[in-house]
Amino acid sequence: MTELITVSMKNCQGWLLGSTGFLPSRGSLMLDTVVCAMFLVLLVLGISIYLVRSRREYRAHRAIQISLALILAVTVIAFEIDIRFFTDWRSAAEQSPFSASGLVDVSLWVHLAFAIPTPFIWAYVLFGAVLRFRPPEPGSYSRFHRTWGWIASLAMLMTALTGWVFYYLAFVA
Ligand code: HEM
Repeated sequence: MTELITVSMKNCQGWLLGSTGFLPSRGSLMLDTVVCAMFLVLLVLGISIYLVRSRREYRAHRAIQISLALILAVTVIAFEIDIRFFTDWRSAAEQSPFSASGLVDVSLWVHLAFAIPTPFIWAYVLFGAVLRFRPPEPGSYSRFHRTWGWIASLAMLMTALTGWVFYYLAFVA
């Protein structure tokens, strides 16, 4: 009975973590999910900025940004668990024709240069805005928030772009 439960738990884990993904590549399910999710994140971020900039929908902007940050936090944690404990992504990446020359590693370092600071910039912008915009309307904090809001958005864009380049070089090529 214990054996049966252990086997079914392992199967369940294998389905969710560390398994082959759904894109025509050598990426894991989690990698494929994150690669696709980044399109959605950028789209929602674009809508949120449009709403605040052109429509002055401050409450909608706040709700979207807080939800997006929560979804991103859960995704990053799940992704880290998968990459560190379940997916042997190095073996998959070694099959790439760009692996031997070191291009895969270089693209990973470039990606990490954006991916590591981005969550911190987001946390800074998010907590700053939640604490200082009460109610969520333009005020003395606007200038600061606009500058850092654009920096945070650019950091997210670069994280996605460099992530897609790394994904292509390591798991598609
Ligand atoms: C990481 C999260 C966030 C990002 C990346 C972000 C991004 C931005 C950007 C780029 C703008 C400037 C748009 C323009 O050029 O006019 C902006 C404006 C604004 N945001 Fe955010 N935002 C975030 C979170 C929040 C939150 C949580 C609130 C509310 C509590 C908020 C309230 C506002 C307000 C009131 C403005 C208008 C400021 C003004 O034009 O006077 N933001 N945001």
